[in-house]
Amino acid sequence: MFAALKAQAPDKILALMGEFKADTRQGKIDLGVGVYKDPTGLTPVMRAVKKAEQRIWEAETTKAYTALAGEPAFLNAMSGMVLADGIAADRTAMLSTVGGTGAIRQALELARMGNPDVTIHISDPTWPNHLSIMKFMGVPFVEYRYFDNATRGVDFDGMIEDLGRAKKGDLILLHGCCHNPTGANLTLDQWGAVADLLERTGAVPLIDLAYQGFGDGLEEDAAGTRLIVSRAPEAMVAASCSKNFGIYRERTGVLLTQVENPAARDVTQGTMAFLNRQTYSFPPDHGARIVQTILDDAELKADWMAELEAVRQGMLALREQLASELRDLTGTDRFDFIARHRGMFSRLGATPEQVARMKDEAAIYMVGDSRLNIAGLNDQTVPVLARAIVDAGV
Ligand code: LMR
Repeated sequence: MFAALKAQAPDKILALMGEFKADTRQGKIDLGVGVYKDPTGLTPVMRAVKKAEQRIWEAETTKAYTALAGEPAFLNAMSGMVLADGIAADRTAMLSTVGGTGAIRQALELARMGNPDVTIHISDPTWPNHLSIMKFMGVPFVEYRYFDNATRGVDFDGMIEDLGRAKKGDLILLHGCCHNPTGANLTLDQWGAVADLLERTGAVPLIDLAYQGFGDGLEEDAAGTRLIVSRAPEAMVAASCSKNFGIYRERTGVLLTQVENPAARDVTQGTMAFLNRQTYSFPPDHGARIVQTILDDAELKADWMAELEAVRQGMLALREQLASELRDLTGTDRFDFIARHRGMFSRLGATPEQVARMKDEAAIYMVGDSRLNIAGLNDQTVPVLARAIVDAGV
């Protein structure tokens, strides 16, 4: 049986993690995988998470199963964080998932069950795992233009033109904020135009919200998602707690599905729980409990928000510093887009050869499409990167 297996192409982000680990050079710089690092290179456990874990440890009396769709208190806390007052409770089904990736996977399964002829529209470029999951599942997908390599901003006209092809019942995968891998994001007006397009086409949005709080702020980063959900009759949101709560390995996420009318809610909710049962049965609970404990406690929530805000401000400062170093080195403002991008990532627009050169000559690791993780930098390494970018001829 197993002799027939074929080697799978390695995930390029995870392969890069391995390559970085194996590199023995002093001063190597990891701008690869999307994990936040503080200026010392540590991915810290957030203060509120530690406190919540302590409370849970003291109060927890059982490890018996929780609900198949996840703990209702967690789902309510997360839907509040993502959608605020915009949630139509009688039209929304909620599912606790194995991280944001689990939410994406269940969303695609649900879409396919609802419409076996669904086509998924995805941004070009997108997070490589979106592509990989869709290929693995065998769901048809088409790409829409997103990134303008000349301006390093959003090619919004191209995006709207391409999405105009979407049919009723298709799924449009959107990044709620902090677009991965480019860092180029839609303005609120542009989100409004996407809502118009959804209305025109009858396509259903699936919003991947993995970086809420890393861009312009916790509320600001959800504004586009809330606008879409308030206007689209049907919508899905896959939200991750990995980054904003820093609980990557706890695998915590939710899928929120808004249906057209309350009558469809129970069947949708049941189908989502069924999907959990078919894949891993009950979802993991520890991370969900941490998140719920924080969000439902004013003091913990305030502390978590303050730490998240410091993380966000730190990344913005690094963006400003890098753009400024590059302005000085090149005598031009052509890298100012780095300061305009938001979230963890920026796509530099370097060629694969230039990316390889930065790795070989300066031990700087970024994903081959020239996505760099801003949080992998500190004020000492920014000038090193700026120099390498110029030396590589970007
Ligand atoms: C990334 O894009 O680097 C992160 O979302 C981590 C991952 O799983 O790829």
